[in-house]
Amino acid sequence: MSDADRMVSGQKRPEDRVDNALRPRRLDEMTGQPRVVENLRILIEAAKGRSEALDHVLLYGPPGLGKTTFAHVISNEMDVNIRITAGPSIERAGDLAAILTHLRQGDVLFIDEIHRLGRAVEEILYPAMEDFALDIVIGKGPSAKNVRLNLPRFTVIGATTRLALLTAPLRARFGAVYRLDFYDIDAICEIVERAASMLAVSIEEDGTHEIAKRARGTPRVALRLLKRVRDYAEVRADGKITPDVASEALDLLEIDPLGLDDIDRRVLLAIIEKFEGGPVGLDTIAASISEESDTIMDVYEPYLLQLGFIERTPRGRMATRRAYAHLGIEDNRPPRQTSLF
Ligand SMILES: Nc1ncnc2c1ncn2[C@@H]1O[C@H](COP(=O)(O)OP(=O)(O)OP(=O)(O)O)[C@@H](O)[C@H]1O
Ligand SMILES: [Mg+2]
Repeated sequence: MSDADRMVSGQKRPEDRVDNALRPRRLDEMTGQPRVVENLRILIEAAKGRSEALDHVLLYGPPGLGKTTFAHVISNEMDVNIRITAGPSIERAGDLAAILTHLRQGDVLFIDEIHRLGRAVEEILYPAMEDFALDIVIGKGPSAKNVRLNLPRFTVIGATTRLALLTAPLRARFGAVYRLDFYDIDAICEIVERAASMLAVSIEEDGTHEIAKRARGTPRVALRLLKRVRDYAEVRADGKITPDVASEALDLLEIDPLGLDDIDRRVLLAIIEKFEGGPVGLDTIAASISEESDTIMDVYEPYLLQLGFIERTPRGRMATRRAYAHLGIEDNRPPRQTSLF
């Protein structure tokens, strides 16, 4: 099963498309991420006050936490157009040049998966972001000329799940860099409630809570679980989502009370049973359960780290006592020596 097939994957799945209707449009409608919202409010108000384009913004964090949503919200608040693209789809420098020359003053250029931009494309992006200039070569051979075109002042909003893969010069060109964190349970409850009311689903408060608890702090997962629970409620009950209906539906999907699914459990079990609790390298874990290391790092690991179920050490990943306890496995490892160095 690939990550995209998982019920609790933070990554986008085809059924998430209708989520566009549920997507908040204004900063006021954004639930959670108070620090990011507050900082953006100031950034936006200041730029508007000076009638300037917004500084370039970089958003990073695990999938499904709202990077794309924030990009849309920012362009709405600035009252400008948004042009959406992604690192892997800008193949040649000329592709980016074409996009840049079509931007208007103040426009937002949203570049998703910005860590996957090619070198040659990045080289074009540097002067475009810094000097609002496009350097192009006209002609060929000895008569070729370098020409610098001026671009309107625009805003790049970059999104990435992997900040560490961004080159230093690219990262340095973002005036504002925000990390999105997993949402707390109250925020997820609010998101589920709002979606339920927009979808005209009848749900009890404790039913909302039951879904939120298993949504791994991720709005996309929360919305997806809500839809599956709604199906269950319609087919197996009278349509109303009570706590019992929610937990039956989620148990049937094999999502445990903390939101872990089969693959999360396999990652933990591999560390515990095959490698005596670790430390073990990520690639070794990945190979032992036939998953991609990148997927484990992007998607499973952040939430397991957040739960305190695994620990990253210089020698690899370790399962914590909590992970043993959650899986009901006795932890017979000798107490760890804590080194001061
Ligand atoms: N703060 C929020 N309040 C309410 N809904 C939200 C919020 N953030 C995200 N969502 C909802 O969660 C879904 C996923 O958000 P979004 O697509 O912006 O995530 P993302 O971080 O861009 O993910 P990816 O890394 O996969 O691109 C959206 O459909 C949106 O409706
Ligand atoms: Mg996105």
